[in-house]
Amino acid sequence: MTETRTDGRPNSLSDYWMPFTANRAFQRAPRMITGAQGLHYISEDGRKIFDATSGLYCVNAGHCDPHIVAAIQKTAGELDYAPAFQFGHPKAFELASRLAMLAPDGLEHVFFASSGSEAVDTAMKIALAYHRANGDGQRVRFIGRERGYHGVGFGGMSVGGIPGNRKAFGQLLPGVDHLATTYNRERQAFSVGEPDWGEELADELERIIALHDASNIAAVIVEPVAGSTGCIAPPKGYLQRLAAIAAKHGVLLIFDEVITAFGRLGHAFAAERYGVQPNLIAFAKGLTNGAVPMSGVLVEDKIYRAFMQGPEQLPEFYHGYTYSAHPLAVTAALATLDVYREKQLFARAAENEAGFADAMMGLREARHVVDIRPVGLMCGIDLQSRDGSFGARGYEVMVRAFNEYDLYVRVGGDTLVIAPPLIASLEDIQDLAGRLRRVLDQID
Ligand SMILES: Cc1ncc(COP(=O)(O)O)c(C=O)c1O
Repeated sequence: MTETRTDGRPNSLSDYWMPFTANRAFQRAPRMITGAQGLHYISEDGRKIFDATSGLYCVNAGHCDPHIVAAIQKTAGELDYAPAFQFGHPKAFELASRLAMLAPDGLEHVFFASSGSEAVDTAMKIALAYHRANGDGQRVRFIGRERGYHGVGFGGMSVGGIPGNRKAFGQLLPGVDHLATTYNRERQAFSVGEPDWGEELADELERIIALHDASNIAAVIVEPVAGSTGCIAPPKGYLQRLAAIAAKHGVLLIFDEVITAFGRLGHAFAAERYGVQPNLIAFAKGLTNGAVPMSGVLVEDKIYRAFMQGPEQLPEFYHGYTYSAHPLAVTAALATLDVYREKQLFARAAENEAGFADAMMGLREARHVVDIRPVGLMCGIDLQSRDGSFGARGYEVMVRAFNEYDLYVRVGGDTLVIAPPLIASLEDIQDLAGRLRRVLDQID
């Protein structure tokens, strides 16, 4: 081990094993970010970089909003930590109530965690324990969906459907089936918003339930719009049909709204956009504007009530995290909700949806583009992969966008996901699209 240097630069770029990163390529040509403000990052060499994906879909109100910064700073000096088990702090209760007010009717209780992965695993554990509390303990199977992303815990990985995230990790959870993805390029390429085709794919749920018998199935989990896989909006009517089938069979419906909650689709929750009432909603990211890690699960009243029994001196649910409802996270979330309300950011996202879609669809003739899928203020753009080199073109877009066009964009394989902060104006969005066009036109 070398001694710590005092000039603020790291000794070795390999000491930090970076997540979901091509570590060796990064070490050869690092992309360092040292500051952020509004729509932009500041790179280490002092450039202003447009944040086209709101960090990782979390900085919905823009970076370093002064109200959120001040709230975190104040709380850091007042209550750095409070034990999460058997003790509470008042603002955690205030936050839960505010979230319940924003949520669809009937989702009245909130269990807090720190990451989206934890929220998903928490929701899955609530589903299992709920059925057991109801005398239905054999309902242990889960149903996810191909191309779904539900984080990296063993629960979320198991119901997730991105092959690369699963293949190295053995057996995962037993008893999991997957619905087919709703994406079909031939049928829906370049459609704006929810595709007209594919509602009937929800009937796969009926088929899987018939195979195992409903009495064995705990829950079905989907992202209302699949985010990390490249922004796949649900076909019109699909989620409503899925919800009806699940309800008919007593199978709980879990919405993973880690990306879609807090304005990305023009509403507090996507459940509202689609008029669907899930039993549980996992959320994270936009809750604190990314400023402090925090996540949670909104829980239907009937589920919460099923737990509230047994000896009063014992926990009703043997689950929780040291950092559940951490005071800094709670304060960041409360301030973030203030900003969303004061700036009317959910409504603003809805107003800008059509203009955003136009700007994205304007890239249709750009080189290599084989599909564009805007919905709300998010959009997947698929590029043709280079022969025999999946991901190479996408990677080059990400690197050149950052280095040459002062643009940060999230790339998975050869798919770009654009999801600007909700404070972006239509001019900002056109600027973003223009930069992207120039990058695409430069790339072979
Ligand atoms: C839908 C969804 N669920 C879960 C997660 C996992 O969240 P985290 O990375 O905070 O664990 C993500 C992260 O992108 C996500 O998009």
